[in-house]
Amino acid sequence: MRSYMKTTAMALALTVAAGVAKADGHGVEVLHWWTSGGEAAALNVLKEDLEGQGVSWTDMPVAGGGGEQAMTVLRARVTAGNAPTAVQGLGFDIIDWANQGALANLNDVAAAEGWDDVVPAALQQFAKVNGVWVSAPVNVHSTNWVWANKSVLDANGIAVPETWEDFTAALETLAAAGVTPIAHGGQPWQEATVFDAVAMSTLGPDGYQAAFVDLDPEVLGSDAMREAFDRMAVIRANVDENFSGRDWNLATAMVINGEAGFQMMGDWAKGEFLNAGQTPGEDFLCFRFPGTQDQVTFNADQFMMFDQGGSVSSEQAALASAILSPSFQSAFNVVKGSVPARTDVSDADFDACGRQGIADLAAAAESGNLFGSMAHGHANEAAVKNAMYDVITAHFNGEYDSETAVEELVLAVEIAQ
Ligand code: GAL
Repeated sequence: MRSYMKTTAMALALTVAAGVAKADGHGVEVLHWWTSGGEAAALNVLKEDLEGQGVSWTDMPVAGGGGEQAMTVLRARVTAGNAPTAVQGLGFDIIDWANQGALANLNDVAAAEGWDDVVPAALQQFAKVNGVWVSAPVNVHSTNWVWANKSVLDANGIAVPETWEDFTAALETLAAAGVTPIAHGGQPWQEATVFDAVAMSTLGPDGYQAAFVDLDPEVLGSDAMREAFDRMAVIRANVDENFSGRDWNLATAMVINGEAGFQMMGDWAKGEFLNAGQTPGEDFLCFRFPGTQDQVTFNADQFMMFDQGGSVSSEQAALASAILSPSFQSAFNVVKGSVPARTDVSDADFDACGRQGIADLAAAAESGNLFGSMAHGHANEAAVKNAMYDVITAHFNGEYDSETAVEELVLAVEIAQ
């Protein structure tokens, strides 16, 4: 058991004298799931920023893409009365913790720095709960991307596919050439990530909203949904035999080293290409999943500040402030593959994929084509999301056909609500 009593008392005296928020005197403990090469490189940008301000960082990484394992560890810590200072969180999970009264109030920092004016409305709905800022948005990712190995495509005469038919033709060409068409990691959250894009392409934006946000049973059980499952079966037929359980970044590595042609994955995949020294347009290509060129299914990583028994600490305030600073938003997101969580950050330092991501996000927000990702907790609460995961994964693994999958989906969602 560590004792911070002395340092806490000293820090308190100092901060009271300086008229700033109470300090807890022991820096920040940050729970997150950024453990792949590209993710760790991005996280370092934040660590170094804070350490430069004299705030020490205790790292609490919990491996597991999408954060499911991290959320399990978090629940155990909170139940034990030992919540970490700051925790990576997504969408409805943040709202849930806020409603449980577990999060600190960041309104003073937010007001001093004008977050209301610069954080997009789509993010504020998950960062500000009942008028209280409870988390600091780091980025905006989106899930409806495809990543491709450029020389593999060139060698096989494949242009960027614009339609589902182009895409399936490309898959056939690659399979005939002995290349694994699609790099995939068989984990439920990865299958759901692929499904985000596939369902958007068959249901269209109104259908996506009706199915995943409004949970309309007619749309969940529709022919268009069955078509989405049929397309998932085509994708399943184009992955290698070792896909089961593979981590997402190992699937990305297959595209990086030319073992596979494509990966359907959120733009955190770009962090892996960059970390491997690759350049967009030269070594790899990024494009929106065919049929979703005008849509963006987004998820935003945020750091929730857990209430440590009093007002927000000066270290938590420093972390929140560092996260929202325009220079950090640029430096971090350039490395991470995401785009800034503020609307006023220049795209000058971003590569071609990043600039497209920034432009796509703005255009989708403007045209009503921006949707919270079902797969990453931005369309519905965890119980519903997990019910959808179960059906998508069972179908992907051949437990039932598409007809049964839509029936199971309707049922599972009904039970989860
Ligand atoms: C997402 C998260 C990303 C990335 C990805 C894979 O949920 O938003 O930042 O970490 O999981 O781990």
